[in-house]
Amino acid sequence: MTHYSHIIGWGKYVPPDILTNFDLEKMVDTTDEWIRTRTGVRERRILKDPEESTATMATRAARDALAKARVDPDDLDLIIVASSSPDYAFPATACLVQDALGASHAGAYDLSAACSGFVYGLAMAHGQIVAGLANTVLVIGSETLSRLIDWSDRNTCVLFGDGAGAVVVQGSDQPGGFLTAELGSDGSGGDLLIVPASGTRHPTTMKTVANGDHYIKMGGREVFRFAVRVMADATRRVVAQAGLALEDIDWIIPHQANVRIIQSSIVKHLKFPAERVYMNLDRYGNTSTASIPLALVDAIEEKKLKPGDNIVFVGFGGGLTWAAAVVQWGVPVPKPPLSFQKQMDLAIHYRWAAIQSFIRRWRRRILGFFLGSPDTETTTEKVSSQLDKVGDQVAKVSRQIHKGEEMNNQQESNNEEE
Ligand code: ACO
Repeated sequence: MTHYSHIIGWGKYVPPDILTNFDLEKMVDTTDEWIRTRTGVRERRILKDPEESTATMATRAARDALAKARVDPDDLDLIIVASSSPDYAFPATACLVQDALGASHAGAYDLSAACSGFVYGLAMAHGQIVAGLANTVLVIGSETLSRLIDWSDRNTCVLFGDGAGAVVVQGSDQPGGFLTAELGSDGSGGDLLIVPASGTRHPTTMKTVANGDHYIKMGGREVFRFAVRVMADATRRVVAQAGLALEDIDWIIPHQANVRIIQSSIVKHLKFPAERVYMNLDRYGNTSTASIPLALVDAIEEKKLKPGDNIVFVGFGGGLTWAAAVVQWGVPVPKPPLSFQKQMDLAIHYRWAAIQSFIRRWRRRILGFFLGSPDTETTTEKVSSQLDKVGDQVAKVSRQIHKGEEMNNQQESNNEEE
């Protein structure tokens, strides 16, 4: 049985539109100076395109992560999407991602633990892997918080941003990788960070819309105090649980909510060196579940991490929840770019996934229309499985072409060496 799990691929997507503090000055009674000094945020990304959503951003980040991991979507066993702003109450955003990736052998579910969700997801992935229930798991944090924000509420609208980050976690015999985690919850503080309406407790009505109850409400000061305490305590505990001391930790990658929270908890309380705490919240604001994977990807792109580094991921959020994990980085970074052939192969795979999804949708409608009775289930299934076989054949041929190309490349480089 596999005892270890490693992050072997990482990816991100942030929307192109930037909203600066100066833009916000024109929208609410605030200043760039207040936002910068009270939160550390200078600008954030906003998903403006109505065709795009939490699921489409998650898919883009996932494709990036899969390409870096050199993992085919068909080899995924599980997709976990952590999000506070899913596309729907159901279906799960993870299912939309699974469909868009054409990950035909993967289970998929959403995870709701607010900003702690990504670290919860990492722990879930590790658990599934060491239990032998999965070998390759995609963990994504994706948010379109701009669509849950009251843009006239200066207490919240200056804080949040949109984006997505993803990692591929895979079972391995190589020691290291995910070492341990602490997951926590204090539901007594549920009202401190809440979208009061649109769930089943307060379904959407004219009144809830008029009251703006479908927007994020937050008790900022209470959340701040909670965050400072749990970030420090959870980090201390999880590091000890991993059998390490704080001095053994090379990087802390915290949830990017507020520079003052990070400084008070990690730098002041824990006395951890500020230069080894990774921060990018000035560029993206608080992207909830996406904040830690976005920070991880940026840290990798800035060549901060190296194999053997001990990293703490620590977050807090609505629930109230918190989560911390220790990961021993196991793979070299950065990775060489994908070959042109592999890029083409993946492009074909994703195009084919979209076509297959379209065919399945219409097949269901047409067969439902003509053969709607349960008695005809067998016929429906027969036709469905034939169409699936055609899809599998196309995917197989595409993989064979790619493998042939790789062998040729290998042969050419061997010849050159000789
Ligand atoms: N611009 C100018 N003034 C503002 C703004 C603003 N955007 N927002 C609030 N103020 C005012 C307040 O009205 C208040 O004025 P008053 O003294 O006249 O009443 C004053 O600034 C100070 O307000 P505080 O709330 O005390 O400000 P604080 O220093 O606590 O900073 C903040 C507020 C940034 C929200 C901070 O409390 C915080 O970061 N809290 C944690 C929030 C957080 O991380 N939430 C996300 C959790 S993750 C998740 O699950 C989604």
